[in-house]
Amino acid sequence: MTSGTLAQRDLDSPDPETTRAIGEALARVARPGDVLCLWGDLGAGKTQLAKGFGAGLGVDGTISSPSFILMAEYAGRLPLFHIDLYRLADGVDAHAGGLLDERQQDGVTLIEWPERLGDALPTPRLDVRIEGTGDEPRRIRLVASDQAYGRYVESVP
Ligand SMILES: Nc1ncnc2c1ncn2[C@@H]1O[C@H](COP(=O)(O)OP(=O)(O)O)[C@@H](O)[C@H]1O
Ligand SMILES: [Mg+2]
Repeated sequence: MTSGTLAQRDLDSPDPETTRAIGEALARVARPGDVLCLWGDLGAGKTQLAKGFGAGLGVDGTISSPSFILMAEYAGRLPLFHIDLYRLADGVDAHAGGLLDERQQDGVTLIEWPERLGDALPTPRLDVRIEGTGDEPRRIRLVASDQAYGRYVESVP
């Protein structure tokens, strides 16, 4: 196995529906233990993509971003762990904080604001990088850090 980028793809998303559809397509290839990091500015569309991902997993109910919860768990084809670290101070060790542990091995984990994890950023993983905010069209870049995540890059039609 080589290190570095193994597979990468750029997608265009002109509207929130397209971003959700991309999330839904990614969810179809999700396997237990997978980690997807959602990068992008406030209002880029990370939570929109997470909503589509939840729909693709068959989660019954709406994925949201509650103000005081760092991690929410949803039941679907696989358990979905939705982590939003917007309110976590930089440099806090999420392992030490009990956020990331062996529970996530049974499900798939989406992490918004992964930069807050610092050294605790999990590898391997799929990086989903959303560029653009407001009314701008988005560019969504998928980057597989490991061969095992290449199937995500192929999953979007
Ligand atoms: N192409 C697009 N993809 C995703 N969201 C979009 C797009 N165009 C406009 N939006 C809007 O941008 C906002 C994204 O919000 P959200 O998903 O909560 O962002 P984040 O979680 O990255 O802070 C939503 O109000 C959504 O309707
Ligand atoms: Mg969000």
